Amino acid sequence: MTNRTSGYNFPTQLLKTLRFARQVAVLTGAGISAESGLATFRDPMTGLWAKFRPEELATPEAFQRNPKLVWEWYQWRREQVEKAAPNPGHFALAQIESKVPKFSLITQNVDSLHQQAGSKNVVELHGNIRRTKCFEENIVVESWPETEDVPPHCPRCGGLLRPDVVWFGENLPLEALYAAANASKNADLFFSIGTSGQVEPAASLPRLAQQNGATVVTINLEVTTTAFHKVYNFNGRAGEILPALVQKAWAG
Ligand code: OAD
Repeated sequence: MTNRTSGYNFPTQLLKTLRFARQVAVLTGAGISAESGLATFRDPMTGLWAKFRPEELATPEAFQRNPKLVWEWYQWRREQVEKAAPNPGHFALAQIESKVPKFSLITQNVDSLHQQAGSKNVVELHGNIRRTKCFEENIVVESWPETEDVPPHCPRCGGLLRPDVVWFGENLPLEALYAAANASKNADLFFSIGTSGQVEPAASLPRLAQQNGATVVTINLEVTTTAFHKVYNFNGRAGEILPALVQKAWAG
């Protein structure tokens, strides 16, 4: 049953599945935060990877080659994140969490906007841009002496500090990965929202959920082709589709 719709004419079966779901898992990507003013990565023209080269900014080797450039780029992104506020898509997901027995929000985003919208069970697969860690010791560092150094140095070992995000070529935090896989396997309804599905292992989670019996819903801007059964594809803005879906599922 593949259902494509560009409007908000949600299939009754989907509304029922959501309303009576025992366990819902949601995977989000940069698209959920686009309506909060944060750039995605791969959207043509506006995506960060349309303007910057990930090899120069988002790998451990890039940091070793030019730590100042990498630190300053993340500092710039951190400033964007600090100015951003959750949008109706984030709030709708927090609402779903308050209505279903079990709920997991697995995000590839590093911006904390789900938590700000009130989501509680959030699994951060790619770290958090607001946190800083030591490049040498790989431990979170909360504060460091103010100096002119860019990047600043670890107060414990003197190593360079870096953002606590996952770069290309690095492993995801194991605990987050297990939590994400478990939530996906046990979900009866799985949403994939605002992600192009090009980065593993997150990209495999919808399939994992589906193989274990979940109904899968995708929401993004481009038309996705999928061979899965029991997939509902919606092409449009998450900040519009999600509130409408919640409203219809629990109407009356
Ligand atoms: P992408 O930029 O690859 O994909 C963004 C997706 O969001 C696309 O499918 C868009 O159609 C969709 N989109 C854009 N605006 C939307 C809106 N208002 N509503 C719904 N969908 C919208 O971002 P990700 O899939 O998150 O990794 O990228 C995955 C990872 O690649 C990121 O976490 C990051 C990046 O390199 C790291 O930094 C490790």
